[in-house]
Amino acid sequence: MKKLGILLVGLGFLLVAFVVALLTMRQPEPKEPANSRTVTSISRKRKASGRILVVYMSRTGHTKQVAEELHRHVGGDLYQLKTQKTYPQSYQKMLDVAQSEQDADARPRLKGQLPKLARYQTIFLGYPIWWDKNPMAINTFLEHYPDFKGKTIYPFTTSGSSGLGLSIPVIRQNARNAKIGKGLAVTDAEMKRMPRMVATWLEENYK
Ligand SMILES: Cc1cc2nc3c(=O)[nH]c(=O)nc-3n(C[C@H](O)[C@H](O)[C@H](O)COP(=O)(O)O)c2cc1C
Repeated sequence: MKKLGILLVGLGFLLVAFVVALLTMRQPEPKEPANSRTVTSISRKRKASGRILVVYMSRTGHTKQVAEELHRHVGGDLYQLKTQKTYPQSYQKMLDVAQSEQDADARPRLKGQLPKLARYQTIFLGYPIWWDKNPMAINTFLEHYPDFKGKTIYPFTTSGSSGLGLSIPVIRQNARNAKIGKGLAVTDAEMKRMPRMVATWLEENYK
């Protein structure tokens, strides 16, 4: 009887040891930090592509958020374009103002000193889509510089649903001699997953 008891206790120990060994073997591998591949490959590209400017215009903050996320990855300088005139807060009124600016092919004046283009080789240019195009002040910005030769512009937009809209031909026309990279378009409904979209877009297109 005593021997049987010892045998049972021994078996019990063996079972516990077996379960512990099994659990230890199933421990997951330590995870690679999120985006580590993206960040490493981009920092390598950054060295090759010279100084970077992330420049954007934003009325309600969406494009600003995308610009800041991009800047977090690529570094360089971050610059917000601001018009001298203040746009209406009301969406309805803003629609009318933007429409008349487009109809008039206006060039709204920009506030402050604009970035010195000679310092940059890669320019990420962000703007909201207004009436299917870029705000006219983006044209003011691009036309401020006589020549973008040797520089690449990567456009990025936010919109209700239009994506890049019809803005790319306008950017191409106004940024003289610039190379235009593939654009990133984030809709308002996609803002939650925007950080992932930015990382993927950079990984696939920023060369
Ligand atoms: C004047 C005006 C015109 C707009 N036109 C369009 C449009 O043609 N297509 C679209 O999908 N969204 C349009 N929108 C929505 C904005 O592009 C969208 O809300 C964007 O995310 C705003 O960016 P922001 O927060 O950086 O200003 C328009 C918004 C405004 C104020």
